[in-house]
Amino acid sequence: MTIRLGDEAPDFTADTTEGTIDFHDWKKDSWAILFSHPKDFTPVCTTELGAVAKLKPEFDKRNVKVIGVSVDPVDSHGEWAADIEETQGQALNFPLIGDPDRKVADLYDMIHPNANDTLTVRSVFVVGPDNKVKLTLTYPASTGRDFDEILRVIDSLQLTAKYSVATPANWRNGDRVIIGGTVSDEDAKAKFPDGWDAPKPYLRYVPQPNG
Ligand code: BEZ
Repeated sequence: MTIRLGDEAPDFTADTTEGTIDFHDWKKDSWAILFSHPKDFTPVCTTELGAVAKLKPEFDKRNVKVIGVSVDPVDSHGEWAADIEETQGQALNFPLIGDPDRKVADLYDMIHPNANDTLTVRSVFVVGPDNKVKLTLTYPASTGRDFDEILRVIDSLQLTAKYSVATPANWRNGDRVIIGGTVSDEDAKAKFPDGWDAPKPYLRYVPQPNG
């Protein structure tokens, strides 16, 4: 099934390294990142899982729950966890779904047969508190993801949700932001009483609201 931005993130029940979970019950009204890796006991995946575990305090600060998935069984994830801790210096601190029957992988279209017909690609789904999909990413098996970029997107999404602002190219937390295109000048005056810098009428910069 193709999942597009704005779609409801499909619910599922799955075995994980932290017991059986129902995805929607587990995330409740938090943000969530559901991400797949191709295979346990492989090099790039080992570095990725360590990197995500190291970022857990940053995800917690942003009310984001993280959950991983691959077509390996939960037992395999459990054995691999020791290698992740040993080589990456960080223990796993979020659940990993064991999906040998590909229930979650198929539901989220994580197997791309022309790349590999048995393993999940490196998919990322960011899901909002309303259970709607806010971001999708797909990376090949050979490229480890930049999880700082995923944090950056979450900061942008959360600013948009709270303040009706958008973020420009290469934005970093603390940089100026853009008043959303759907906000009229009249409404913008109420939201941004200190005004804005507008090199064009449609390009209205303001300091980051929580910056
Ligand atoms: C890796 O994590 O290095 C990997 C996993 C599956 C296929 C290719 C590479």
